[in-house]
Amino acid sequence: MTSKLLNVALHVDENMAFGVSRDENIPTPGDGELLIETRFSGANPADIKHATHLGIYPTRLGYDFFGKVLEAPPGSSFKVGDNVAGYTPTGVGRPAKYGTHQSYLVCPENMAYSVPENLPPDHAACLTVVAMTAADALYNLFKFPLPGDSTSSSSGSTPRPLLIWGASTSVGICAVQFAKASGVFPILVSASPGRHALLSELGATHCFDYKSPSVIEDIQIVLQNYQFDGVPYAFDAVGSLSGLGSAQMVASCSSKDAILVSVVVQKDPRFVMPLATTNEDVTLKIANIPHPIVIPARKEDHQRAWSALQWAVEHYGSRFRLVSVEVFQGRAKDALEELKVLADKGRGFGKLALMHPLV
Ligand SMILES: NC(=O)c1ccc[n+]([C@@H]2O[C@H](COP(=O)([O-])OP(=O)(O)OC[C@H]3O[C@@H](n4cnc5c(N)ncnc54)[C@H](OP(=O)(O)O)[C@@H]3O)[C@@H](O)[C@H]2O)c1
Repeated sequence: MTSKLLNVALHVDENMAFGVSRDENIPTPGDGELLIETRFSGANPADIKHATHLGIYPTRLGYDFFGKVLEAPPGSSFKVGDNVAGYTPTGVGRPAKYGTHQSYLVCPENMAYSVPENLPPDHAACLTVVAMTAADALYNLFKFPLPGDSTSSSSGSTPRPLLIWGASTSVGICAVQFAKASGVFPILVSASPGRHALLSELGATHCFDYKSPSVIEDIQIVLQNYQFDGVPYAFDAVGSLSGLGSAQMVASCSSKDAILVSVVVQKDPRFVMPLATTNEDVTLKIANIPHPIVIPARKEDHQRAWSALQWAVEHYGSRFRLVSVEVFQGRAKDALEELKVLADKGRGFGKLALMHPLV
């Protein structure tokens, strides 16, 4: 690699200060890794929160990407010039090379895939983290059949209600579409009323307003019509702490032996959390806990979620989609502000992709 290339990157330093770097350091791939020229990187709340809440700093920011392969290892299934997307590893001690909000990034080959024509580059850059999180919930924690499994087409005949709370989060949008593709029925969702038509089109069978004072009662009435006392599969796709908290709203609608899933860690021990990256152990440092915590890898689960992601990629635009992807093009320091807003207050509906190189 020539040293004349400029790498513009968003980073967090050893004092947990966020900033922009501009240098000629093009990352070096290790064994089994690709060097990629970033075209788009996808924004997630985790880009900032993993530093501030989970001790993952110093590092360069970002997990999701779309780009072009510049170097592939010998024997790789990828070649120079391929368009690829995917995501990169997380955890305390994360090397700077894995940050995706930079002009050049490194990705392990087994966390990347070739992008077909039906998947637009900016959408590809935003897909992997949220689709893998939804897939871990549906296929590993709830153990629904994968789309295309022989059981998934026939499974609509026996009701097994699924509740997705906050179905218009990007994780929720993916979960609704996976659930439909797997023949899950009925699919109950909560969202703002303005999103109900969209969610019905994507596969929801019953939509509720999460702000309605009668929302829990309304959900229970529908469940009783299916002869269920409470929902057996309950997914909090928001992780909101406001009011009672979205997880407790979900728990209030669930049956005694329900599987309860929330996208963020819950104090209530009945909840389990899906993870976007289950292929390797993940080490985290949490405030007030003196020692690092290791979340062990679930390699078979990773493969199952990855197959669901590949189904979504293959059927993108027909049976699966991210509904809204906004593209940011401009100054690196403004892009960093966008990430901070996303982590602090959220940006509302849809995904944000950063176009590279940032200025
Ligand atoms: N565990 C993991 O590996 C993992 C991975 C990715 C994300 N996450 C977490 O998953 C959550 C969702 O992330 P995301 O990026 O998909 O979200 P997002 O796309 O930013 O979500 C935006 C949407 O959230 C909905 N919302 C906000 N407050 C709500 C509430 N109290 N009840 C119901 N819906 C509410 C709004 O829906 P309406 O428009 O309908 O009002 C809004 O459109 C975050 O907490 C994130 O940190 C976890």
